[in-house]
Amino acid sequence: MELTLPIAAHPLSGDVTVPGDKSLAHRAALFAALAEGESVVSNYPDSGVTRAMRGALASLGVPSSLEQGVLRVVGNGYRPFPNVGATAYCGNSATTFRLLAGVVAGTGSCATLDGSAGLRKRPMDRIVDPLRQMGAVIQATPGVAADGRNVSCAPLTFGAGHLHAVDYTLPVASAQVLSCLQLADLGVSGESHFTVPGPVRDHTVRMLAAMGGKPPLKPLHAVLPGDISSAAFLFAAAAIVPGSRITVTGIGVNPTRTGILDILAQMGAQVSYANERMEMGEPVADVTLSAAPLAGITIAGDLVVRTIDEFPALAAVAAFAEGDTVVREARELRYKESDRIAAIVTQLRTLGADAEEYPDGFRIRGGTLKGGTAHANGDHRLAMSMALCGLRAPVTVEGAEILNESFPSFVPTLQALGAGR
Ligand code: S3P
Repeated sequence: MELTLPIAAHPLSGDVTVPGDKSLAHRAALFAALAEGESVVSNYPDSGVTRAMRGALASLGVPSSLEQGVLRVVGNGYRPFPNVGATAYCGNSATTFRLLAGVVAGTGSCATLDGSAGLRKRPMDRIVDPLRQMGAVIQATPGVAADGRNVSCAPLTFGAGHLHAVDYTLPVASAQVLSCLQLADLGVSGESHFTVPGPVRDHTVRMLAAMGGKPPLKPLHAVLPGDISSAAFLFAAAAIVPGSRITVTGIGVNPTRTGILDILAQMGAQVSYANERMEMGEPVADVTLSAAPLAGITIAGDLVVRTIDEFPALAAVAAFAEGDTVVREARELRYKESDRIAAIVTQLRTLGADAEEYPDGFRIRGGTLKGGTAHANGDHRLAMSMALCGLRAPVTVEGAEILNESFPSFVPTLQALGAGR
């Protein structure tokens, strides 16, 4: 599918909602499968990646229903999955794969986890190594990572191992890895200690606490907040169309996820929170962004971790800010749905922008983008990022159907805010 957003002739305005948070949705379906009894979760998003988790759980013997945004799961408890020796296909969803791997290992389930061609290229040694240290029996597939390293990849086949507690320091700040290990650790007697080099999202701990902390887990009754990672593209759109003022209501504002809002504010946009509340242990708010002149900044350190999925949205904003936006210490971006450092720079250059790649980040000079045809590279967030550039320059995005993986209502929501009027 080709996507061309019309150049915005008027400011964007209005109040909208976005689909439920994907990180929370993955955990809600998975943890519900581990609970004793029936869980009911509302505002559950239906997109490619959430279908991946539900499909994988169904293959392992824990089906779920999703009707009008309400997910129902009858839990199997924290014990081996019913379908012994099954293969669970995780599609493009690394969160599904890595979190499920922790559960399969911890419950001593015999199963194979696999995924799309894209997922098979993503590094899995980051979970295989520590899970093996805990005693898991895993047969991995040799592969080559984006940077040429030999790594363990999908498919992974798990044999029934008996896990023990470990002290482990994660080499990268990854919530997926930490969650994988925390989930494996639920089946262990003794106390593990995991050390993480950065403020990764802590949804696993918060949601498990709401379910009683450890097995036997109580069923989950929850309403998911809107996904700040989807809202980020709407805030980016409002930031780059002069005079805009939009509100996205009811989004999760867990401080481990709000880096993009801090960055947009540092670049000059006005960002405010209202109606702040707690739901299921997670902070939720209505967030308003008003456009104002933008200036490039430098981003590194913990702010990178708190913004890890939002660099594609930021790239579109950087392309229309005054001066240079520089991102450093962000090597992890090379291991996402695409090598996002290479992909962002290549696609922006295709559109005529002055952009430069670093081993651990990139630089984008604002005001240099001219327009043209970009490609989504099989990455849902790259598709939306490049499409947003079309609000200010003539841009067509090829391969844009991939955005249905995460935000199927992206275009209608932008239209509701006035894009295309
Ligand atoms: C996620 C963690 C992040 C993020 C991904 C979702 C999660 O990955 O990029 O989209 O739900 O735990 P890493 O932990 O690999 O950084």
